[in-house]
Amino acid sequence: ASESMLSITVVGASGDLAKKKIFPALFALYYEDCLPKNFTVFGYARTKMTDEELRDMISATLTCRIDKSENCEDKMEQFLSRCYYHSGLYDSEDNFSELDTKLREKEAGKLAHRLFYLSIPPNIFVDVVKCASIRASSMKGWTRVIVEKPFGRDSESSRELTRSLKRYLSEDQIFRIDHYLGKELVENLSVLRFSNLVFEPLWSRNYIRNVQFIFSEDFGTEGRGGYFDHYGIIRDIMQNHLLQILALFAMETPVSLDAEDIRNEKVKVLRSMRPLQLEDVVVGQYKGHSKGSRSYPGYTDDPTVPNDSITPTFAAAALFINNARWDGVPFLMKAGKALHTKRAEIRVQFRHVPGNLYRKNFGTDLDKATNELVLQVQPDEAIYLKINNKVPGLGMRLDRSDLNLLFRARYPIEVPDAYERLLLDAVAGERRLFIRSDELDAAWALFTPLLKELDEKKIAPELYPYGSRGPVGAHYLAAKYNVRWGDLS
Ligand code: BG6
Repeated sequence: ASESMLSITVVGASGDLAKKKIFPALFALYYEDCLPKNFTVFGYARTKMTDEELRDMISATLTCRIDKSENCEDKMEQFLSRCYYHSGLYDSEDNFSELDTKLREKEAGKLAHRLFYLSIPPNIFVDVVKCASIRASSMKGWTRVIVEKPFGRDSESSRELTRSLKRYLSEDQIFRIDHYLGKELVENLSVLRFSNLVFEPLWSRNYIRNVQFIFSEDFGTEGRGGYFDHYGIIRDIMQNHLLQILALFAMETPVSLDAEDIRNEKVKVLRSMRPLQLEDVVVGQYKGHSKGSRSYPGYTDDPTVPNDSITPTFAAAALFINNARWDGVPFLMKAGKALHTKRAEIRVQFRHVPGNLYRKNFGTDLDKATNELVLQVQPDEAIYLKINNKVPGLGMRLDRSDLNLLFRARYPIEVPDAYERLLLDAVAGERRLFIRSDELDAAWALFTPLLKELDEKKIAPELYPYGSRGPVGAHYLAAKYNVRWGDLS
């Protein structure tokens, strides 16, 4: 067989995502010897830049997360020497054919595989795939295109985007990223569930009282207000990141770990969900706030955000799955910016022990005695289980403690960034962690009616101070279903 050549073209190379995530992830893969022997990286963007300038730009964000030795410095140099730049417009066939010529020079005589990462706004995805000779039939190897959300604003616009992309690409070539699926603890969720007898049989309404998916950031939309105001937190975090985790959490056991088997189950569970209703949602927006000598800006203080914006920067929602496994179990989601902490976690609250012999030792609050399993996705990856135990001593005082697996303490290795895993999978053609079009469609079907209603009725968000725990409405929503947010209790 002839030798192959992999070219990775980052379209939108001068953007933030490319600088902060994509190039560093490619370098980490190179460092770990995960990229093929022959590969080249091309940056493409409108900014005029030489190859050298691109290398300088990239090198500013490369770090040696694995080791800090000279070896790493050498590897950086080697990696940078394989990076090139081509400046062009996103809708210019001529500019893209110049890029094509450069790619062909590198590919000469080899089996050519091309991976394009569209690190650009979705409204220009189609221009690029049209021009980028992405579908050039003369190429012998595979061609794949990675795209990243927002995939539309609702069912309709998302379908339209899918339709337009499919004019130029087959579903097989489209890799829709949800970077939360690349996170270590999200990968671990299935392992925990399907390979532990102490959890697998409990994974249903019979033992689980509610499940919570919590995302919070301790900073606002600083600098991204323009983008954010068009989408809001429900589209930015819930409809994709949190819902993807929910689907993995709640799906039936797949036939195998193959991409199609897993994605079939995810689609099934998404399609079994009850569309969201307005009364099961609380929206909030952060307002300016000063603490001591520091003052924090409100969302609408951002110059790129209209002063009268009612875009939610916080939302809480109660979702339900109408199937035999989960009937009646509230799946609560909460996502917010400018809160008191930065964290993402999954919390599973179990039912009470029937006829608990120690009932009276817990006083009136039996809820304090239920088990809770927590997957702390970030920061500081951990899995812990809250159990009841006796406080040592002659009396009988009960307490709740954590059985704790803290990954940093257990494994002396750096956890790879989500983008490393996802890029590696895209190169390998592994689709398990990418979103299939019917999955995307089901995810939008769940949220679209609610989003329309929020827009039409111009529902005003509950204001919460920057750095607080969010609107109190979230507590009432949980209380309606007899739930307490695990992160706050
Ligand atoms: C992105 C959102 O998808 O995820 C951002 O658009 C958010 O608003 C980011 O800040 C959070 O990702 P991470 O990996 O930093 O938790």
